[in-house]
Amino acid sequence: MDDAAVDCLVCHDQTGKYAGSKGECGYTDGSVDLLKVAQSVAKPTRSNCGSCHWYGGGGNNVKHGDMDAALADPSREHDVHMGGMDFQCQDCHTTENHKIAGRSTTSSVSEGPVACTDCHDSRPHDKSSAMLSKLNDHTDAVSCEACHIPEYAKDAPTTTLWDWSQSGREDKVLENNGKKKRILSKKKGLLIREKNLTPEYEWYNGTHKRYLKGDPINREAGTQINPPQGDIHDPEARITPYKIMKGVEPADPVNGHLIVPKLFGDGGYFETYDWVDAAEKGMAAAGLDFSGEVVFVETIMHWRLNHQVAPKEEAFSCLDCHGCDKVMDFRALGYEGDPADVGGRSAGRQ
Ligand code: HEC
Ligand code: HEC
Ligand code: HEC
Ligand code: HEC
Ligand code: HEC
Ligand code: HEC
Repeated sequence: MDDAAVDCLVCHDQTGKYAGSKGECGYTDGSVDLLKVAQSVAKPTRSNCGSCHWYGGGGNNVKHGDMDAALADPSREHDVHMGGMDFQCQDCHTTENHKIAGRSTTSSVSEGPVACTDCHDSRPHDKSSAMLSKLNDHTDAVSCEACHIPEYAKDAPTTTLWDWSQSGREDKVLENNGKKKRILSKKKGLLIREKNLTPEYEWYNGTHKRYLKGDPINREAGTQINPPQGDIHDPEARITPYKIMKGVEPADPVNGHLIVPKLFGDGGYFETYDWVDAAEKGMAAAGLDFSGEVVFVETIMHWRLNHQVAPKEEAFSCLDCHGCDKVMDFRALGYEGDPADVGGRSAGRQ
């Protein structure tokens, strides 16, 4: 982190009045007592970090799904560490000389990983119990989070679909039943926000691939924006829980890549609502070929889930995965069937 370029108070103010008062250019408005703010300076609290991280994507919990404003004062059910034990963010995201540890799903900057096993044993369950010690046999293939975050978006809904092809129509709430919201936004299109979600599971070996501008689209299976890397044969990979966000985005069917439209400002899409025009301007600025044709294609984005760890009583146990009402699609993960019947991946790796 470049000390000269950052605003210290956004993380160190404890009046709670600083971050919220900031205008668009990052200046505080006149109503803030900067002397009080300066005297309040202390170690960051969850709310300091949350003033940015809970509101990514333009609203509470909208982006990540497992990080929301309820973490300011969470119950134990919401998050055992930050609720039950009042952990601060930096208790896990250890910070040295302002380098905050923790890999992001989307950006490649990283100041070192954070893992559950920084504090817990990699075989943490009671070895004297036959059943609990069986859980330990899973940790080489199943991530801690896969069993310990059985549900996410527990308090506030998170965006699961963003369909740009529906933009340009009047703002309207199409559905809102407390668990699921469907909103038409003139600018953004159709948005679906949901809560109390069960994660999707994928193999993850510590890296994500990223779609870069100009990369080919996949019109059959959908275009992956940041697919996790690793599979059943990769000993470094663990089955990991994700929020999947689907998108419907503009693409050039002739050149076969996603369009980078000009959205904001002079003659941008938010003024003209004309995709071809916005594509011409945006693609020229991005230095990409544009055929003049726009189609809409499906995109798939992954958000890894690491927060909202549930109390131990709520962790997934044997029958959640191996019973009839299975949370995991074992075949999609590469097994020949339920591994409790056909054996784990070491049995399959002939
Ligand atoms: C992104 C959030 C963030 C920003 C911005 C930030 N800090 Fe910090 N700062 C932290 C965290 C986290 C710690 C470690 C707190 C702990 O030990 O629990 C810390 C610790 C400190 C400490 C204690 C000594 C140390 O290095 O551990 C000082 C002094 C400090 N910060 C000053 C500053 C100054 C001056 C700025 C602006 C140049 C700044 N901070 C900007 C998050 C931030
Ligand atoms: C002023 C806004 C802001 C504040 C306050 C802030 N962050 Fe961040 N943080 C960002 C942005 C922007 C990124 C990069 C994009 C991303 O990964 O979401 C980031 C990235 C991260 C990452 C991912 C690692 C990486 O290198 O990309 C972690 C972990 C993180 N922040 C933790 C914290 C913690 C802990 C605090 C409080 C001590 C904090 N942040 C305070 C804006 C902020
Ligand atoms: C109990 C431990 C724990 C606590 C407390 C915690 N985190 Fe995390 N967080 C993690 C782990 C583990 C990861 C995954 C990091 C990695 O893979 O290197 C993570 C990842 C992240 C990321 C990257 C997310 C992504 O997928 O892009 C951000 C940002 C972040 N945490 C912010 C925060 C903030 C802000 C707080 C406080 C409100 C917080 N964390 C509290 C354990 C924790
Ligand atoms: C910074 C250290 C730290 C990190 C990182 C951490 N934990 Fe913990 N965790 C603790 C402590 C301390 C306790 C309380 C003592 C205990 O039960 O081991 C605890 C307790 C727990 C419990 C028991 C909660 C209950 O119901 O009583 C679970 C489950 C748990 N952690 C899972 C995780 C998972 C999953 C991760 C990774 C996302 C993680 N922990 C990351 C320190 C940590
Ligand atoms: C296959 C599912 C599964 C996996 C994988 C898993 N756990 Fe657990 N874990 C459970 C269940 C179920 C319990 C509750 C056991 C009980 O009834 O006490 C539990 C309990 C715990 C407890 C509380 C233990 C106690 O005695 O109070 C901690 C801490 C914990 N797990 C941490 C972890 C960590 C860290 C990992 C990754 C290294 C992990 N778990 C991986 C299912 C799992
Ligand atoms: C979160 C889902 C999940 C939970 C909960 C879970 N399992 Fe599994 N189980 C798996 C997966 C995935 C594998 C394959 C692991 C591998 O490839 O090594 C597996 C493998 C097995 C195997 C075959 C192991 C081998 O080495 O051949 C048995 C037996 C088994 N589980 C029994 C249990 C029992 C008993 C419990 C409760 C104590 C349990 N499982 C809880 C997902 C789960």
